Formats: sequence, C-alpha cells, structure tokens
Amino acid sequence: MEYLLALETSCDETAAAVIARDRRVLSSIVASQAELHERYGGVVPEIASRAHVQRILPVIDEAVKSAGIALTDLAAIAVTTEPGLVGSLLVGLTAAKTLSSVLRVPLVAVNHIEAHLYACRMAANREVFPAVGLVVSGGHTNLYDCRSALEFQLLGSTIDDAAGEAFDKVAIQLGLSYPGGPSIEAASRDGDETAFDFPRTFIANDRLEFSFSGIKTAVRYQVTGVPGSRQPPPPPMTPQRVADMAASFQAAVVDVLVAKCKLALQKTGHRKLCIGGGVAANRALREKSTRMAEDLGSEVFFAPLNLCTDNAAMGAIAWELFEAGRFAPLDVDVTPGLVRLQR
Ligand code: KG4
Ligand code: ZN
Repeated sequence: MEYLLALETSCDETAAAVIARDRRVLSSIVASQAELHERYGGVVPEIASRAHVQRILPVIDEAVKSAGIALTDLAAIAVTTEPGLVGSLLVGLTAAKTLSSVLRVPLVAVNHIEAHLYACRMAANREVFPAVGLVVSGGHTNLYDCRSALEFQLLGSTIDDAAGEAFDKVAIQLGLSYPGGPSIEAASRDGDETAFDFPRTFIANDRLEFSFSGIKTAVRYQVTGVPGSRQPPPPPMTPQRVADMAASFQAAVVDVLVAKCKLALQKTGHRKLCIGGGVAANRALREKSTRMAEDLGSEVFFAPLNLCTDNAAMGAIAWELFEAGRFAPLDVDVTPGLVRLQR
C-alpha cells in the first residue's frame, strides 16, 4: 500500500494527514488557531504564519505516528499552494519541499478550494462529478463547474465578503462568540427567521455572483440604529432579539446561496451539486439545498462535518493529481489569490 502525506496551512489551521492510495484517511491532525484569533474577531495573517511555524513539525510528527507508518513509507508529499494567506501557505510549502527533497518523493500542489469540493467525493464514496460545486467558507464563496476531480472551472464568486466572513462579522455585532457560523446557528434555534427582512442581494438576477456586505450593514443598523437618522433608537438587544436577528440573517444568506446553486444547476445542466467549506456545516443550508435539489430532480452531496472546516484529509485529491502524473516542480511557488479560469 502506498501512502501520501498532505499538509494544509492556507489559513488558520495547521493540518497534516496520511492518506492511502485507496483514499483511506489513516490520520488527520488539525491544530486550530481559533483561540489566537478570537479576540480580533477574524484571522490575523502575521499571527497565523507564526503559529504555523511553531506547529507544523509536531503536527506532521503526530500525523505520521498515528497513521502507524514511517516517513520512508511515503510515496508523495501533497501541500496546499493556493489560495490562502501568503505567509501561511509558505510555511506548509517550505515543509513539504523539504520533505519531498529529503525523502526523494514527488511533490503535489493542491488547490484548497478544489480540495473542499473533493471532500464531498470522499464522503459519498462514489463518483460525484460532473457537478456544480459550491465552496462556502470564511474566505470564499465560489461556484464551480466541476467536470471531473481534475477539472474545475470557476462560474462565479462573491464581489465582496465571503458568506462565512459575514457570519463571523455579524456574530460580533450580535455579541456572539467566534467563529460566528456555529454561534449564529445555535442562537437561531430560538429565533424567528421572518422577524427581520434582511436583503437577499442578487437573488433574482441571472448572474452567478454573491454580495454579503449589504446584509452586514443591515444587521448593524438594526443593532445600533441608522447613523444620523431621526428615527427612535432600536430596542435593546434582548436574547430574543438576538435570536430573531441571527435566524433572519442566516435565512437570508442561505436563501441566496441556495438560489445561486439552483441557477448554476440550470445553467450547466448538471444533475449533481457538491457543497463544501466551513459554512457547509450549517444545517439550514443543508436542509434548504436538499429540498431545492429534490425539486429539480438533482442530487446534493455535502462534505462530511469533519471535512467541512479546514483539514488536510481532503488533500486526498492529491492522489487524483498523482495518478494523472501532475507533479509540482521543487521551485513551485504559492498563489495567494484565487486564479480565475478562462471561460
Ligand atoms: O473552511 P473554513 O474552515 O475556513 C476557510 O477556508 O475559510 O471555514 C470557516 C468558516 C467561518 O467563517 C465559520 O464561521 C464558518 O465557516 N462556519 C459556519 C458554520 N461552521 C463554520 N457557518 C455557518 N454555519 C455553521 N454551522
Ligand atoms: Zn478552507
């Protein structure tokens, strides 16, 4: 049996996993930095890269040990090279290049967004492509035409904030804990999603793009009042008002995400939808997209909960690249931004 070590340091999780050629995940170690960034309400790039430097070697050690293999059993080293925070990506890439060169095994460059979608394939344990792919996380809200595990074409993305970023920022406004997604979801359970009519930006247009900055402002005005307005100040933020606002915000974001997935299914003619990334853990998104797909006679595949937020196990996509002979040269660089593919 051949094994591959995958590293992921694109944002604020230092992660390593050992994956067998049959895609079995032998170990998956994730060292979260959430507690380091919590007080800032978002990821601070400089803190993230320094924490990766401290954690990368112990995380690799633990991944290899708990897989019960030796470094010399590895057939390749896979690493996220794009997109992400440049300093964070460089830590993983430097570790991966060193291992690849010392062990004399090939290096495989993984696109983090494609790996988020491959997580759906791992859970389904059968072919899920061709499909429409939605990657919805703290850094990205992108729709893809996934023709195969090796061919992803960007159909559209957010023009401002990512959906997860909106969850995180709105949570701060509502006095909820970081990361915002899980705390807004929890607060929503006691809330009325029709209490506030928050904007569903672009929901009715024919374009595959998103915008979440308007809804963030709309929530702020409900919390603090409209600056300079003669209206009476908004009522105090009781737990019920927080819950109603959380539920209404979540419903508005989910409605837009589901509407654009529907549009992408109709435009591409695909009958399958894959949803990955941190926000794919959201239950309302899972329920509403499942209903939408059923109505269209389509199937929806979600990344499993343990593979929604950042991890290295979804670096299993590197086996697809390995088998196609797509290796990275030792001088490969990181690509922090999202590369827009030609249409
Ligand atoms: O994929 P991920 O770990 O990091 C990026 O690559 O960005 O996603 C993290 C994001 C955060 O913004 C977090 O608030 C959001 O995913 N998130 C959720 C939920 N769980 C995590 N958003 C909505 N509902 C959830 N249950
Ligand atoms: Zn991610």
